[in-house]
Amino acid sequence: MLQLQPDALYNNCSQRTHQLRSNNHQIIADSKENVHIRPWQAEDYDGVWSVLKDASYSNINPTFIVILQKPFLWAVNMILLSVGFARELSVIFLVVCFLGELCLIYAMSVLGAIIYLYGQTLSDIKDIKTSYFTTPDHHFWVAVCQGEIAGTVAVVRKVPQLHGAPCKKDPTSEDCSRGKIAWLRRMAVSKRFRGLGVAKQLVKTSLEFCQSRNYESVFLITTEVHHAARSLYSNMGFQLIACKPYRYLKGLLTIKTFEFEMVLR
Ligand SMILES: CC(C)(COP(=O)(O)OP(=O)(O)OC[C@H]1O[C@@H](n2cnc3c(N)ncnc32)[C@H](O)[C@@H]1OP(=O)(O)O)[C@@H](O)C(=O)NCCC(=O)NCCS
Repeated sequence: MLQLQPDALYNNCSQRTHQLRSNNHQIIADSKENVHIRPWQAEDYDGVWSVLKDASYSNINPTFIVILQKPFLWAVNMILLSVGFARELSVIFLVVCFLGELCLIYAMSVLGAIIYLYGQTLSDIKDIKTSYFTTPDHHFWVAVCQGEIAGTVAVVRKVPQLHGAPCKKDPTSEDCSRGKIAWLRRMAVSKRFRGLGVAKQLVKTSLEFCQSRNYESVFLITTEVHHAARSLYSNMGFQLIACKPYRYLKGLLTIKTFEFEMVLR
C-alpha cells in the first residue's frame, strides 16, 4: 500500500492551521459526557439536514480564503493592474474592480455551498433508509447532544462507481483488487457542538462498525478547505495516501483533495 508521510504532504499541499474553537464551550461543556451516538431514525430527517446545512455554510469562509490564495487570481489582478496603468485608468476604478472581484469570489463560495446542498451530491440524504439501511455493510449514525442532532457520519462500501474513487477509470488498479473497503462520508458536526469531541466519537463508532463488518480498510476524501477535518483524521490514525487536484471552471480553479486511509487488518 502506498503510504505517504502526512506531514510531507501537508507541507506540499497546504498548511495546518488550528483555529480558535467555538465560544459555546462553556454553555455546553457540561454536556460533553452526554453525547450519544446512535443509528439514524426516520424522525431524524430535519436534524440531519440542519447539521449538513450548518456544516456546508460554515465552509463558505474557508472556501473564500482558499480561493483568494489561488495563483489564477493573482494573474487576473496583475492583468487588471497592467491594463489599468497602460490605459491610465483611475485608482478608484481599479479599487472598484478589485472589490467586485472579491464579491464575485464570495458569491462563488456561497454558490458552491448551495450546489453541494441542493445538487446531486447529497442525494443519499433524501432517502437515508434506502441509501444506508438496505445492506448490512452500510450505516448512518447521528450524534445526539442535549436532545438535538449534533453530528452525522455514514459508512458505505466503496465501489468504483462512487465519485472520486481512485479505481473509477481503471478497475484493475491496486485499489480495486484490495477487497472490502469502507468509505467514510457525511462527517459533520453543528457549529455550536464543535470542539467537544463529537466527531471523534462518530469516527470511533464508525471504525468499530467497519471492524465488525470485516472491512479491510477505511477510505475517505476531504479537501484543502476542510482544515479541521484533516486534523481530525490524522489525529485518529488515518494515513494521508494521496493529494489530487479537483478542477473547476475548465481548470481555472483547482481545489486540492486529500485521500485518507486506515488499514484495519
Ligand atoms: C471537522 C468537524 C467534523 C470536527 O468536528 P468536532 O466535533 O468539532 O471535532 P472534535 O471536537 O471531535 O475534535 C477532534 C479533532 O479534530 C480536529 N479539530 C477539531 N476542530 C478543529 C479546528 N477548529 N481546527 C483544527 N483542528 C480541529 C482536532 O484534531 C481535534 O482533536 P483534538 O481535540 O485532540 O485537537 C467539524 O469541524 C465540521 O463539521 N466541519 C465542517 C464539515 C466538515 O468539514 N466535514 C468533514 C468533511 S470531510
